[in-house]
Amino acid sequence: MEHRALGRSGLRVSKIGLGTWGLGGDFYGPVGEDAAIDTVRAAIDSGVNLIDTAPAYGDGRAEELVGRALNGLRDSVLLATKVGIVRKGKRIRRCLEPQSIRTEIEGSLRRLKVEAIDLYQIHWPDPDTPLEQTMETLLRIRDEGKVRHLGVSNFDQVQLEQTSSLGRIESFQPYYSLLGRAIEEDGTLDFCREHEIGVLCYGALGGGVLTGKFGDRPSLPEGDHRHNFYPYFAEQVRDAVARVLREVRAIARVHGAEPGHVAAAWAADSPGITSALIGAKSVDQVSSNALAGELVLSPEERERLDRASEAIEEAREQEQ
Ligand SMILES: NC(=O)c1ccc[n+]([C@@H]2O[C@H](COP(=O)([O-])OP(=O)(O)OC[C@H]3O[C@@H](n4cnc5c(N)ncnc54)[C@H](OP(=O)(O)O)[C@@H]3O)[C@@H](O)[C@H]2O)c1
Repeated sequence: MEHRALGRSGLRVSKIGLGTWGLGGDFYGPVGEDAAIDTVRAAIDSGVNLIDTAPAYGDGRAEELVGRALNGLRDSVLLATKVGIVRKGKRIRRCLEPQSIRTEIEGSLRRLKVEAIDLYQIHWPDPDTPLEQTMETLLRIRDEGKVRHLGVSNFDQVQLEQTSSLGRIESFQPYYSLLGRAIEEDGTLDFCREHEIGVLCYGALGGGVLTGKFGDRPSLPEGDHRHNFYPYFAEQVRDAVARVLREVRAIARVHGAEPGHVAAAWAADSPGITSALIGAKSVDQVSSNALAGELVLSPEERERLDRASEAIEEAREQEQ
C-alpha cells in the first residue's frame, strides 16, 4: 500500500484509510463489538495505517472500539478523530466552544486509550462560535501535547482561509466520490494544493452504492439511515447512479476487481487527494477494500469514469 505525505506534518498515511462511522452501530445498522474490533485489526493487517473516527459515531462507541482494537497496536497507526458534534441522547448539535472542546478531547483520549491523537479535526463548522476562540483552544491543546496535528472537515474555501490564517492545519476532510465532485469546483481542493494541506476524502463508495451490491433499485433495511446523509438512494438520481455503476462494473471486470475497488481507486488517485477514507463493518469488507490500493486505473479508464459521473450533475440540474 502506497503511503503519502500528509500536508507538512511529516506523517505518511496509506492512500486507503479506514473510516469507522459504521462501527458506531447507529447509522449503518448494527455491528457487533467483536466484528468491529476485528475490522480495525484486519485493516492494519492489510497495510492501512490511517484510522478515522469521531465521538459522534455511535455516541463514543466507535472510538471505544477503536481504542480496544489498538491494544498493543498503537504504534502501527495514525489515529484521526474529530471534535464539534455534540450529542445528548437523540439531540445532535454543532459546538466548538472552548469548554466543549476541552470536555470532548478528554473523552476521546479516554475512549481511545491514548496519550495523544495524531490528527484532531473540526468535524463541521459551528456558526455560533468565533473561529478565533476555537482555534486558540485547539492550538493550546496541541501545545499541551494532547494532539499532534490539526485538521478540518466540511469547510468551504472561506472557512479554510480563515482557519489557516489562525494556525497551521494539515488536513481537510471533504465528501468526494464519482457521485459528488463539488470540491473540484468550489475552490477547496485548489486551496489545499496551494497550501500543502492534505486531503482525506470520505464517502468514495457513496455510502456503499458504488460497491454495486444494492442493484439498480437500492432499498435499505429499517435502522439503516445512510440515505439521510448520502442522497444516492433517491429516485431522482437512480438512472444517473446506474449509468456510473455500469462504467464502474465494466472497468472492474477488466481488472478482475470489485466495483468498489474501482470507485475507491478513482478517488484515492484523483489529483490533490492524499487518502480515501473507506468505511467498513467486517473483516471481509476491509480486506477487500485494501485491494483498491493496488488497483491502477489507466488515463482512458479515468476519463470514462469522469464522463459517466457527469450524469449525476445533469440529474441534479434537471431536478432544479
Ligand atoms: N467528516 C465527515 O463529516 C464524514 C462524513 C461521512 C464519513 N466520514 C468518514 O469517512 C468514512 C467513509 O465514509 P462512509 O463510511 O460514510 O461511506 P463509504 O466509505 O462510502 O461506505 C461505507 C459503507 O459501504 C459498505 N461497504 C464498505 N466496503 C464494502 C465492501 N467491500 N463490500 C460491500 N459493502 C461495503 C459498508 O456498509 P454496509 O455493509 O452496511 O452496506 C460501509 O459501512 C466514514 O466511516 C468516516 O470515518 C466523515
